[in-house]
Amino acid sequence: MAIREIITVPDPLLKTVSKEVDNIDDEILNILDDMLETMYAAPGIGLAAIQIGIPKRMLVIDISRDEENKDPHIFINPEILDPAENLSTFEEGCLSVPGVWEEIERPDECNVRFLDVNGSENNVRYSGMMATVIQHEMDHLNGIVFVDYLSRLKKDRAIKKSIKSRTQDPGEK
Ligand code: NI
Repeated sequence: MAIREIITVPDPLLKTVSKEVDNIDDEILNILDDMLETMYAAPGIGLAAIQIGIPKRMLVIDISRDEENKDPHIFINPEILDPAENLSTFEEGCLSVPGVWEEIERPDECNVRFLDVNGSENNVRYSGMMATVIQHEMDHLNGIVFVDYLSRLKKDRAIKKSIKSRTQDPGEK
């Protein structure tokens, strides 16, 4: 396993539409291991393969924030089905937009059809924060970052703020 570099805005790679995984082989399993390690090290609660520069439809998520009892979820070729009409708002952040948090509204429940690491098809309904995180990560597979939902002005400001937060001397705040 290895920690990979996470690409950040405005890297144009983040706009890539990722391709389906056709064969869950050792290379894919190694990438998934690296994605989990990279997400935990960041630390973050979700990561799409494109965020480490790999344009494949794969996500890892763990919203437990619990070092002792990790709860990793892996989604290969995920699809969102039956999103609820009810919306909920969460303050979202993204490892590819460090230093920025914005409230985003999304359906508060949805089904996700996906393959697990054994290649079995699953269809699970998620709600609350898990539903939000899955939809946020799914967007990455379609080249969308959460700040794309903001007005042009707010988005430009968010990206500038993120770039500044990375270039700032850690000693000055
Ligand atoms: Ni993200």
